[in-house]
Amino acid sequence: MDGNGRWARSRGLRRIEGHRAAERSIHDAVEYCGEQGVQYLTLYAFSTENWSRPRAEVSFIMALLGSFIRRNIDSLNENQVRIKAIGRLDDLPRGPRKELDRAIIRTAGNEGLTLVLALSYGGRAEIVDAVRNLTADVVSGSLAPEDIDAEGIASRLYLPGIPDPDLIIRTSGEQRLSNFLLWESAYSEYYFTDVLWPDFRREHLEAAFSDYFTRKRRFGDVEPGKDQD
Ligand code: FPP
Repeated sequence: MDGNGRWARSRGLRRIEGHRAAERSIHDAVEYCGEQGVQYLTLYAFSTENWSRPRAEVSFIMALLGSFIRRNIDSLNENQVRIKAIGRLDDLPRGPRKELDRAIIRTAGNEGLTLVLALSYGGRAEIVDAVRNLTADVVSGSLAPEDIDAEGIASRLYLPGIPDPDLIIRTSGEQRLSNFLLWESAYSEYYFTDVLWPDFRREHLEAAFSDYFTRKRRFGDVEPGKDQD
C-alpha cells in the first residue's frame, strides 16, 4: 500500500493523512476481490523495517490498524471475509494485537475472501523464523539435515496453507520488492503502477487483473504443446 506519504505531502497534508486515506482503497480492493472470486488478498501494511519510522507515525499506524479492525469487523464478517495475519505479530502493541486476534477468531469460519494482513512483516524475517523452527527439529533429532527440502521450509512459513501469490501489485511507481513475500513470490507475476495507494480504486485493480490475464505463466517450463523441440 505504497504512496500514502507522497499522496498526503502533495496535498500539503501531514503524512499520516495519507495512511488515513488508505482506508477507502482497502475497502475498494476487498470489495472488488470478493466480487471477482479472488480467494486471497494480502495487504502489506507494516514491514519489519517500518519500525524505524518516526515514533509518532508508527503510533498512528498502529492505532489506525486497531481502529480499522474495530470499525470494519462487522461488515467484513457479514461479507464472509476471513481475516488472517503474517509477520512478527508479537511486536505489535497490545491494543491492536488484541483487535487483530479477535478478528481472526471471529472470522475463522468464513468462506469468502481471505484477507491476510502483513504486519511487522519481512520476507527475510519470515525465512529466518522458518529456519529457526527447522533447526530446532534438526537439533532435537526429529529431522535429518539431508531431509531438509523446499517443502520443509515452505511448511514452516507464517501461513503454510495459503498458496503462493499469482499477482503482486506495487503502487506508487516504485519497482522493487521491499522484502515482500520473498519465498512465496518465486513465480508470481508483478504489476507496477504509478497510482499512489490512496488513489487506487477498483478500476486500477481491474486494469491490473486484465494485464495479468495477458501473461503466459510457464513456471520455468516451456509452453505446453509448443516449443517441444
Ligand atoms: C506505505 O506508504 C504505507 C505504510 C507503511 C503504512 C500503511 C498502513 C496503514 C494504511 C495502516 C492501516 C492498516 C490496515 C491494514 C488497516 P508510505 O508511507 O511508505 O508512502 P510514501 O512512500 O509515499 O512515503
